[in-house]
Amino acid sequence: MITNVRTFHPRRSRPSTGAKYALEHLVHKYLMPIGDWNFDELAPDHRIVIEIGSGMGEAALAYAQANPADFLVCLEVHTPGVGSMIFKADEAGIKNIRVVVRDALEVIAESIADNSVDEFRIWFPDPWRKQKHHHRRIIHPEIVDFLLTKLKSGGKFHTITDWPDYGVQMERVLAATTQLQVTKLAQRPDWRPITKFERRAQEAGRSIHEFLCVKK
Ligand SMILES: C[S@@+](CC[C@H](N)C(=O)[O-])C[C@H]1O[C@@H](n2cnc3c(N)ncnc32)[C@H](O)[C@@H]1O
Repeated sequence: MITNVRTFHPRRSRPSTGAKYALEHLVHKYLMPIGDWNFDELAPDHRIVIEIGSGMGEAALAYAQANPADFLVCLEVHTPGVGSMIFKADEAGIKNIRVVVRDALEVIAESIADNSVDEFRIWFPDPWRKQKHHHRRIIHPEIVDFLLTKLKSGGKFHTITDWPDYGVQMERVLAATTQLQVTKLAQRPDWRPITKFERRAQEAGRSIHEFLCVKK
């Protein structure tokens, strides 16, 4: 394990009726078992995109539907969110999406080969706003270095926050990684769906700090 630090908050919300149904009856269609993932077999001729912390999955679903040549694996610990996403994916007939309900860092360490991922996305990670919790932020040098071992050369690393001091931390951590070419985006690219947390940030008047990096 690369770190014993938990990057997520335990949450106790209950699944909606749809999410509950999905977790009981539809999960087998979307769940990726842990193991050595062979993307050439699982999703031949697809770009492999790993999303860490997909939340309720709104953005993931919109993205997967609009990009059928991508295979999106969503790693999320919040079971009701995953249930809701599966329910909507099934309703919409979306086939290029999979989920795992477990700590993403454990899953990646156990299941993903080095240099095999086309893109990691970590959109609006938990901000851990108190100074004493900053060590739990997922954009951390050790974690970024670990994820980069799994990314192909030319692969993308895309992260976003609405908290100014986390934006500064992201910029510092990413710029210090000599393997990345870092671009700070001035505005949301047209192809990126708006996420639930981004909508909340906009309503509260917070600006967005978005980094789209390429592994050299
Ligand atoms: C602030 S929410 C953002 C959700 C979504 N990306 C959005 O923008 O609406 C962050 C999510 O990341 C998940 N998360 C944080 N660390 C994680 C980890 N190590 N493994 C899996 N999920 C994680 C949390 O459970 C939470 O749902």
